[in-house]
Amino acid sequence: MRAAAASGFSKGQLEVLDLIGGAPASPLDALLDRVVEALHSRFPHYTGVYLYWMDGPDALVLRAFRGRPTEHVRIPVDRGICGRAAREKRTVIVDDVASDPSYLACNLETRSEIVVPIMKDGVVFGEIDIDGDAAGAYGPTDQRFLEELAALIAARVTS
Ligand code: SME
Repeated sequence: MRAAAASGFSKGQLEVLDLIGGAPASPLDALLDRVVEALHSRFPHYTGVYLYWMDGPDALVLRAFRGRPTEHVRIPVDRGICGRAAREKRTVIVDDVASDPSYLACNLETRSEIVVPIMKDGVVFGEIDIDGDAAGAYGPTDQRFLEELAALIAARVTS
């Protein structure tokens, strides 16, 4: 395992990176299920963890999740915060979902959201989408960790 202090990641974050880095990359659904399980079970502020995968160029489909079920099992890329992250190929953090007109609600409890594209060489394969019950639940520490995890997943599925 990498040294926590040197990497800037917490011990829990490093454990997840090592777990996913060492897990079989195939079948993909098993890998994605490990990802959502690891995130949801270790980080209490990750209330709902959803793994979407591109289905052609225009839509995302739900492949794995932990937490509250969602009706949004297929999201066109021109809709939602998930669509925005895929279109703009960057992490989107929303501190207060009620103030974002593009937000697609899954439940009444969610207050904030972070969506991190899983991409390599400018190609988006999928997304890690996390919901929180507290406003402003996600910041740079989450972003840095989840972007590292997303890059790891992208490398695993393309090698
Ligand atoms: N809130 C997302 C939809 C997916 S659910 O959060 C699981 C969005 O606005 O795209």
